[in-house]
Amino acid sequence: MKLLFICLGNICRSPTAQAVFEHMAKDAGVWVECDSAGTGNWHSGSAPYAPMQKAAGLRGIAMAHLRARQVETRDFEKFDLIIGMDRENYDDLRRICPEEHWGKLHMLLDYADGAAREVPDPYYTRDFETALDLIEAGCAGLLAQVSG
Ligand code: 4NP
Repeated sequence: MKLLFICLGNICRSPTAQAVFEHMAKDAGVWVECDSAGTGNWHSGSAPYAPMQKAAGLRGIAMAHLRARQVETRDFEKFDLIIGMDRENYDDLRRICPEEHWGKLHMLLDYADGAAREVPDPYYTRDFETALDLIEAGCAGLLAQVSG
């Protein structure tokens, strides 16, 4: 199973989702290949946003090694699930994804039970804790789904 997490900049939400999911999967003894990418290219080559790294680090999640990149056409072929953080990510993916792969596109909180359907962008909200709470909930549900 190969999972690709997607957000806008690939410096806040999707690298966090990748790191959180990899951490949970490792703890559960589940092997899943993970990556993340952005729909935009402004931050290509950058490490995750420092305040996001700090908030994740306080929860035991390390992500300093990750580097941002933009999603590319061959990702839709390579990955089994391509998971956006909000409706904008999903809509952007639908525009660039070949129709035969539309079934791979999802939003992270489709896998969570809470009321929130999108992970708000903490780069703008500055609420890194809410983003982490929602990402953890989505990743837990996703892990249950892919390992069940
Ligand atoms: P992300 O947050 O999509 O969660 O990585 C963003 C970070 C930076 C920008 C947009 C979103 N930006 O436009 O610089």
